Amino acid sequence: MTTITESMLATIEDELQRQVARLDQPRTQQFHEMLTYHMGWTGEGAGSLAAGKRIRPLLTLLSAASVFNGEEKGDNTSDPNWLHAKSAAASVELIHNFSLVHDDIQDNSDLRRGRRTVWVKWGAPMAINVGDALFVIANQAILDLADHYPAEIVVRASSILNDCCLDLTRGQFLDMSYEERDDLGLEDYWPMIGGKTSALLSACTHIGSLLGYANENQQEAYRLFGYHLGLAFQVQDDLLGIWGDESLTGKSVASDLVEGKNSLPILFGLGKNGRFAERWRQGPILLDEVRRVSALLEDEGARAFAETVAEAETQKALGYLKEANPYGEAGEAMLGLANMLLKRKQ
Ligand code: IPE
Ligand code: IPE
Ligand code: MG
Ligand code: MG
Repeated sequence: MTTITESMLATIEDELQRQVARLDQPRTQQFHEMLTYHMGWTGEGAGSLAAGKRIRPLLTLLSAASVFNGEEKGDNTSDPNWLHAKSAAASVELIHNFSLVHDDIQDNSDLRRGRRTVWVKWGAPMAINVGDALFVIANQAILDLADHYPAEIVVRASSILNDCCLDLTRGQFLDMSYEERDDLGLEDYWPMIGGKTSALLSACTHIGSLLGYANENQQEAYRLFGYHLGLAFQVQDDLLGIWGDESLTGKSVASDLVEGKNSLPILFGLGKNGRFAERWRQGPILLDEVRRVSALLEDEGARAFAETVAEAETQKALGYLKEANPYGEAGEAMLGLANMLLKRKQ
């Protein structure tokens, strides 16, 4: 039997392809191919690993499908109600991918999902344009909700999405500006990841619940669930960015240290003011020092600290999920997804 998650993932992929096909026009075929490459559908190594996990659209649809409002929604029938939310699901994944294409330029990253990044393949000027197109298509996709929802819900969804994009760019600003600073503490970390990562995850669960006709209180619980899940998710990403397995993450394990990212383990290490902090303050970490420096950081307790924080944020997220009271197969799938994200290796 097909699970609700499998049905949703198949729907998401179809809808994404349909949305990106807006660019499939004469003269600009190569432009369309740049997008389909980044989305994981074409080019060398195309396939599910190259496409990424699609957790944002999945969270959107699971939120829409799990809202309890006293009505049977026929979760897994041939025409379930969550299908109406599919263009919003595509929209959040397109926003995510726009941010990744630009983030890889900003972070000087040459590997994404195990493949060369768009800017490495076609140059930064083209990659900026690819990101722009993904951003615009995301905004067109969310308006397609008008086929199934009243105008005030479409406007509300679009406004949540735009607020989130502004928060995301503010988070990216903090992330990049922190690279130049040596006066940061743990308290500076949360506004940065709250913007760059949690803004979008909370928009997913918020918009999803809106489209499932949740009331205001339920929407707030869904939103906070997504927000704290996003914090836990970014802390886990920071851990994988130093101690992860490159062949699983598909991203370079050296780059956070070499780029001087003030991720959570680093800020913890700086606060310890020990041998790690001393080395960090001397200047950029070189590639052949990465192993030694990450071992030093682990010895000083940074890895264990970040793991505890990720676990605590996941528990907070689960508390809000309980408050949201999601029902049915979709509710269970969302609980499973939240627990899985903490244990992820990719
Ligand atoms: C990567 O997100 C960027 C972060 C916010 C940490 P994901 O780990 O969800 O990326 P994909 O889409 O699965 O590759
Ligand atoms: C994640 O940024 C957030 C955005 C892309 C907006 P990171 O730079 O921390 O994520 P990865 O590790 O490159 O995926
Ligand atoms: Mg970044
Ligand atoms: Mg990055």
